[in-house]
Amino acid sequence: MANQPWWRNAVIYQVYVRSFADGNGDGAGDLIGLLDHLDYIASLGVDGVWLNPCYPSPQMDHGYDVSDYFDIEPAYGDLQIFDQLIARANKLGLRILMDVVPNHCSDQHAWFTEAVAAGRGSKQRERFWFRDGQGADGELPPNNWKAVFGGGAWSRITEPDGTPGQWYLHTFTPWQPDINWLNEDVVDYFDRMLRFWFDRGVDGFRVDAVTVVGKHPDLPDAPSIAGAVAETDAWAFNPYTVFWPSAHDAWRHWREVTNQYERDHPGRELVTVSEAYTPGKPDLLLRYVEPDQFHQSFTFDLLLSPWNALSFHKAAARSYQALHDAGATLTWALNNHDAHRVVTRYGRADAHLMSSWTGSNLVNSAAPVDLELGQRRARAAALLILGLPGAAYLYMGEELGLPEVLDIPDASRQDPIFARTEGREKGRDGCRVPMPWTTHSASLNGFSTSPSAKAWMPQPDGWGAFSVEVQDYDCNSMLALYRQALSFRVDMVEQGEVIEFVGDGTDGLFSFTRGSYAVVVNTSAEDVEIPREIMVGRKLILGSLPEAFSQVDESSLIAANSAVWLG
Ligand code: NOJ
Repeated sequence: MANQPWWRNAVIYQVYVRSFADGNGDGAGDLIGLLDHLDYIASLGVDGVWLNPCYPSPQMDHGYDVSDYFDIEPAYGDLQIFDQLIARANKLGLRILMDVVPNHCSDQHAWFTEAVAAGRGSKQRERFWFRDGQGADGELPPNNWKAVFGGGAWSRITEPDGTPGQWYLHTFTPWQPDINWLNEDVVDYFDRMLRFWFDRGVDGFRVDAVTVVGKHPDLPDAPSIAGAVAETDAWAFNPYTVFWPSAHDAWRHWREVTNQYERDHPGRELVTVSEAYTPGKPDLLLRYVEPDQFHQSFTFDLLLSPWNALSFHKAAARSYQALHDAGATLTWALNNHDAHRVVTRYGRADAHLMSSWTGSNLVNSAAPVDLELGQRRARAAALLILGLPGAAYLYMGEELGLPEVLDIPDASRQDPIFARTEGREKGRDGCRVPMPWTTHSASLNGFSTSPSAKAWMPQPDGWGAFSVEVQDYDCNSMLALYRQALSFRVDMVEQGEVIEFVGDGTDGLFSFTRGSYAVVVNTSAEDVEIPREIMVGRKLILGSLPEAFSQVDESSLIAANSAVWLG
């Protein structure tokens, strides 16, 4: 739409660099591989690419443990290749977003090693959350906080003189010490970092784990939690860090930095998108997208919804009402590198039940998976999010209908969640399996340039059947559907961002109109008649399946587990 910033209704393709394409033949994805496949991303019709962290990192959490915010991970390439990537993306009309991790760095970051070496009470330790332990010899952690990936949130260091020393806070793993945002060095460092990448041509950042960046300065014990809570969910109930308000000062400051950069560089339009899990709480989400904070914040409610029109309606309507009315952008996703892939979620026998979806993939459902049903529903869900107003983020491989790989051998698992919970929770490796590009098994289905590479995470048998090569010329493929939907979406966006919901989902239909268009999703197991008020003056534009729409006598029907765009 005219006069709107580019990101307002953009579609961004998320690349988990390690799993996208291996250009140097070592079995892990890299920037050369990405460069070689950038044309593919452009062929989808998306507006930009979000790269998961590709800075130097010991890879204890695959890049979310950054050891240098001003360089590229050597296994992925270097700054020169990164510059080539930006230049090529510019030519193809694609924006590039990076991923910034403000809550923690790697324990191998120079700041942390310096802090350990500098000793108690040093200025270097003030950049982190070092505290003396409790107990006679300080042998107990300073408080009872739990880590997101299992275990306690504190680890004890050995002081330079060899004695057991202070403890440091780590919200995720011991390899990811939390940074103290009350410290001025920290604020300055990240200002420089943002500008460094903007200067290289980056159009914005996805901002990691924003809800835990603030901490109560006294770090009091968290209240005990009533009822049973999964081991890796306990942290979420800690009011002394989750949504602690001081973090908003940092976001307000970042907005000033990006606004100033835009003023100094006419023609540049930057975007920041925050990862703030606020499901069911649009009022909290709204705080992150106030005009002086992030441009966007993921609306995770759809990602966390089961296959159920009522639930889709609730998720979409409450987010739309809160954000649209406030003039903020809605920012949708159905998949990401932390969640079970949608094909598998929707293919579960109990996928229609609210209780079937735990809200995280950390606790695996044991329900059997019907992949054909999951694929069918995932096609419909694609038309759902691509029809909604606002931005949509697609996770690489969702356009191929990749399922979650559930049977990764334990010995191959790399997600720290698996090790930190001693295998009680499987973790997120199953949605990070390398992309299949072809059916050539010798090159890991086209993932690697080497015929003898071993994939960093094994691909299952038959993975090539989902490949781009197989789907590129099949007009009924998931890939073809995404390309069609993205192409029709251009006109849909012209209709503006006002939608009217029709019904509330109780009849199995999730429906809304958007100007002259309408989107209808049938989550029930029966064909359902599309209400006449939707059909009047509209014809079929696109169906999630060839048989999605039919007319019997005077009635227009939408098939079970499918979606249509009308206009
Ligand atoms: C959220 C990221 O999406 C996830 O992959 C990562 O492990 C944590 N934040 C910690 O940075």
